[in-house]
Amino acid sequence: MYRAGIDIGGTSIKIGLVDDKLEIVRRSAIPFQCVGGEKVAAMIAEEIHKLLKQEPAIESIESVGVVVPGSIDKTQSIVIDAHNLGFHGVPFRAQLQAQFPSIPVYLANDADGAALAELGRGAFEGCKTAVLLTLGTGVGGGVILGGRMFSGGTGLGAELGHMTLVNGGEACTCGNHGCVEAYCSASALKRDGIRAMHAHPESMLCAKSGGDESKIDAKFVIDCAKEGDAVAKTVFDAYVDHLAAACISIVHILDPEVIAIGGGVCHAGEFLFEPLRKGIDKKCFFSEHGAIVPAVMGNDAGIIGAAMLADNAK
Ligand code: BGC
Repeated sequence: MYRAGIDIGGTSIKIGLVDDKLEIVRRSAIPFQCVGGEKVAAMIAEEIHKLLKQEPAIESIESVGVVVPGSIDKTQSIVIDAHNLGFHGVPFRAQLQAQFPSIPVYLANDADGAALAELGRGAFEGCKTAVLLTLGTGVGGGVILGGRMFSGGTGLGAELGHMTLVNGGEACTCGNHGCVEAYCSASALKRDGIRAMHAHPESMLCAKSGGDESKIDAKFVIDCAKEGDAVAKTVFDAYVDHLAAACISIVHILDPEVIAIGGGVCHAGEFLFEPLRKGIDKKCFFSEHGAIVPAVMGNDAGIIGAAMLADNAK
């Protein structure tokens, strides 16, 4: 039997049909357009029907799950705020349900879904307590408690990217200041890379970009730091320091068996993980703590986690 999993992001919507082994057997992607929930739901439905009709045709799916980069209400029906999608108070589950009246539809936060995927066949297999941080445009937090996806006491948690890291610090997309997201997202690394490029015309950041801000992103900063640019390295070290501080709080609150780090920034590999682990060890209250590892599900985490929402609801 197959389930549909949908991962809505600020630029694209990834859609997949997932089998019982949690493999994506068919997939497609369409651009995300800020055209309102109903139209987005209709576009998704059209795409799912196209996937079903591919030869050999798949007769039916048993559920549709969708994950979005934002907070969901306690009935897991309404997208309260997904800033990157321009969704505020959107009854998206009902809108999608209208397209699939005869099968169950599930809605969850993207990082919660990604944590579920890691539990299914990734870094959290066999874990009872685990935390995923996704470092991308935003910072997502997915928590596994008691071997299940945890969505908070009233359904809104856990927004780990919006824990306050620096009181009164950098502005965050949520309207607050000093959030983990404002220091540990790929967007934050890009912002700090651009600032450093302007402040240091002698840097590799400046030479390689030709002073063009549009050439700088998180990967660019990491690559310059890896190539030995002292300015980029200072930016990256500060980034890792903030990430270590965020992880320390998570270790102290939950003592997870595993903290996995996902998102584009984790492609830096040991260049990120070695100093990150050292930074955590240096300040950690415990002499030992759970492993800090890269997430393994990569770009498929959202689709697979969304498809698994049906299991999590049981
Ligand atoms: C949102 C989260 C989301 C994360 C990753 C943050 O800005 O508040 O809900 O999980 O980005 O997409």
